Amino acid sequence: MARRKKIYEGKAKTLYEGPEPGTIVQYFKDDATAFNAEKKDVIEGKGVLNNMLSEFFMTGLNTVGVPTHFIKRLNMREQLVRACEIVPLEVIVRNYAAGSMSKRLGIEEGTQLPRPIVEYCYKDDKLGDPLVSEEHIAAFGWASQHDMDDIVALALRVNDYLSGLMYGVGIKLIDFKIEIGRVYEGDFQRLIVADEISPDSCRLWDIETGEKLDKDVFRRDLGSLTDAYTEVAKRFGVMPKQATHPTKPTLIN
Ligand code: TMP
Repeated sequence: MARRKKIYEGKAKTLYEGPEPGTIVQYFKDDATAFNAEKKDVIEGKGVLNNMLSEFFMTGLNTVGVPTHFIKRLNMREQLVRACEIVPLEVIVRNYAAGSMSKRLGIEEGTQLPRPIVEYCYKDDKLGDPLVSEEHIAAFGWASQHDMDDIVALALRVNDYLSGLMYGVGIKLIDFKIEIGRVYEGDFQRLIVADEISPDSCRLWDIETGEKLDKDVFRRDLGSLTDAYTEVAKRFGVMPKQATHPTKPTLIN
């Protein structure tokens, strides 16, 4: 059997060369990291749940006309995606204050913002993904002004879609992060949603109880991350058929 070529290994995913030119296989690992990998653990089943959930959100976005890199899920841990050039930015959309915004501006977590706020961080682990402005992005050539207009439009469409979807299952979308890919089509380039959309990259609070159903459970030691992600998957009806937890052998009579 031929060994496939690893293109990139990140903290939560590994990318392999896809079966056809212009495609990539995205493998979801069980590794969880926070605070720029200062905190690390392996959470059995996380990769499977994120693969299913990202498939669900990306498929929905494609269907409503928001272009993404997602082509199809291949198996429990892998999906086929379109190869693209990643814009070196983390694009964050916030509906309610939380996390670094609450810290930076002294706003209590959970406070509704006057309108969705889009932020950019420069993707560089060594620097801890610092917050940057459009001025930095244009001046250093990470994206053009025209790209940024497209990025904000994409981010807000993703926000509207995801907020509504979450609301429908009793979840408040506090904030999320997306990454943007550049694809070339003849003489044109297009920006699409890339990477993943999962409870690793969103803040999701139960509307009724305020319970956190996202990676803050791991960041802040609030309980079982698998239970939180499983709850999200259950609400969307995308539970993996196979158990994500190792199960004891059971007797079938
Ligand atoms: P923050 O409040 O820590 O800046 O996070 C904002 C959103 O971005 C939150 O939904 C978590 C997500 N996020 C990532 O997906 N990756 C990261 O590395 C960080 C810091 C945040």
